[in-house]
Amino acid sequence: MPGRMHAVNPAIDGLHGTGASRSYAQIMGNISDLLHHPQPHALKPIDLGGVVIDVPVILAPMSGVTDLPFRRLARELGAGLVVSEMIASWAMIRENAATLRMATLEGRPSSIQLAGCDPAAMAEAAKIAVGRGADIVDINFGCPVKKVAVGQAAGSALMRDELGAARILEATVKAVNVPVTLKMRMGWDHATLNAPKIARIAEDLGIRMVTVHGRTRQQFYTGTANWDFIAEVKNAVRIPVIANGDIITSDDAREALARSGADGVMIGRGCYGRPWFPAQVAAFLQTGTTPAEPDLAAQKAILLRHYDLMLHYFGIEPGLRMARKHLAWYSRGLSGSAEFRATVTRVAEVPAVLALIDRFYDPLIERGATRIVRRDDALADAA
Ligand SMILES: Cc1cc2nc3c(=O)[nH]c(=O)nc-3n(C[C@H](O)[C@H](O)[C@H](O)COP(=O)(O)O)c2cc1C
Repeated sequence: MPGRMHAVNPAIDGLHGTGASRSYAQIMGNISDLLHHPQPHALKPIDLGGVVIDVPVILAPMSGVTDLPFRRLARELGAGLVVSEMIASWAMIRENAATLRMATLEGRPSSIQLAGCDPAAMAEAAKIAVGRGADIVDINFGCPVKKVAVGQAAGSALMRDELGAARILEATVKAVNVPVTLKMRMGWDHATLNAPKIARIAEDLGIRMVTVHGRTRQQFYTGTANWDFIAEVKNAVRIPVIANGDIITSDDAREALARSGADGVMIGRGCYGRPWFPAQVAAFLQTGTTPAEPDLAAQKAILLRHYDLMLHYFGIEPGLRMARKHLAWYSRGLSGSAEFRATVTRVAEVPAVLALIDRFYDPLIERGATRIVRRDDALADAA
C-alpha cells in the first residue's frame, strides 16, 4: 500500500537521524511554525473553485524525479501543491501498471498531470485520474521531448496547433467535475510566442489556472527563463497564473513574481536534493525572511528518510537504483561529493550505501561544513 511507507530494512530504522543534531520532525516543525505564523501576505491562497491552494509555491511535475516519495517529502516539508509526473493519456486508459503507480496520490489537494493529443483519450484519462482521487487535473502543453512533442504531437506541440489544443482543453474540462489546469511554455519558438493567446482560449474553455515555463519549446532548457514574458500571459487572463523556470533562490522567486505579476511560483530543478526549498520560498514570501538552510545533520536526516521512502515504495532493488541520482543531488556542493557520487553509484547493497552516507556526511557534520550549490549546477540535469 503505497500510502503507508515504513522502513523496509531494519538497518534503516536504526539509522534514521544518525549523526543528526535535529530530527526530521523538528525540521518540519520549524518550517511549519514559520508557515503558520505568517506576517503580511505577499501570496494569496488560490481558489480554483472549491479546491484551494493555500500557499501557491508549487513543486513542478518532473518525470523520473517527482515520484510519490519525493512529492510526499516536499509536501510534508511545506510545498503548497505537488503535481504527479506527466502521465500519457493512452497509458492511463490501458491501466498500465507503471502508469497507475505514477497516478498514486496522497495528501490534498493533489494534482495529476496528463499529456496526449486525442481529446477523447484525454477526457477518458481525466475521468480515471479523478476516480483515483485527483482534486485537480493538469494538462501538459510544455513537454519538449521529441517522442512526445513530435512523435505524438502532444506536450509543447499543441502550442502550434491551437485548434487541436482547444479541443483537448474543452474535452478534458467537460469530462470531469474537478478543476482542470494547464502547464505550457511561452510558445513553440520565438517566432510564435502564443502563450497569452492559448491562455485566453484556455480561460474561455473553463481552465482554472495556467503555469508558464518562461522558455520556448525550441529552447528546451537552454538560455534563461523569461519571467517578464509571463506578465503578458498574466495580463491576458483573469484566472491565476503561475511563474516557472530557473527559480533556485528565494530572491529568484520574489523577482519572478515581481516581473511577471504572477499569483504563485512553481519550482522544479531548484528542488533537486532540496525538498525543503518550496517551503523556504513560501516562508520567505510570507514573512520576508528565508528560513536558514537545514544544517547538514538535518539534511542527512531528510536524505535518509527520502532513501527509506524510495526503498519502501519501489522495492529494494529498483529503489536503490532510482535513489542514486537523489543521493548525488543531496551531496552536490559539499566537499568530496564527486568521490561520494562515484562510489555510491557502484554499490548494490543497502547497508553498504548507508555506511557510505555515514562516512561521507559525519565528518562534514562534525566540522560544521556548509553546502554551497552553484547556480549552474542547480540547473543542470534537465530532462
Ligand atoms: C527531469 C525533468 C522532468 C520533467 N518532467 C516534466 C513533466 O513530467 N511534466 C511537465 O509539465 N514538466 C516537466 N518538466 C519541466 C518542469 O516542470 C519545469 O517546467 C522546468 O524544469 C522549468 O522549471 P525549473 O527551472 O524550476 O526546473 C521536467 C523537467 C525536468 C528537469
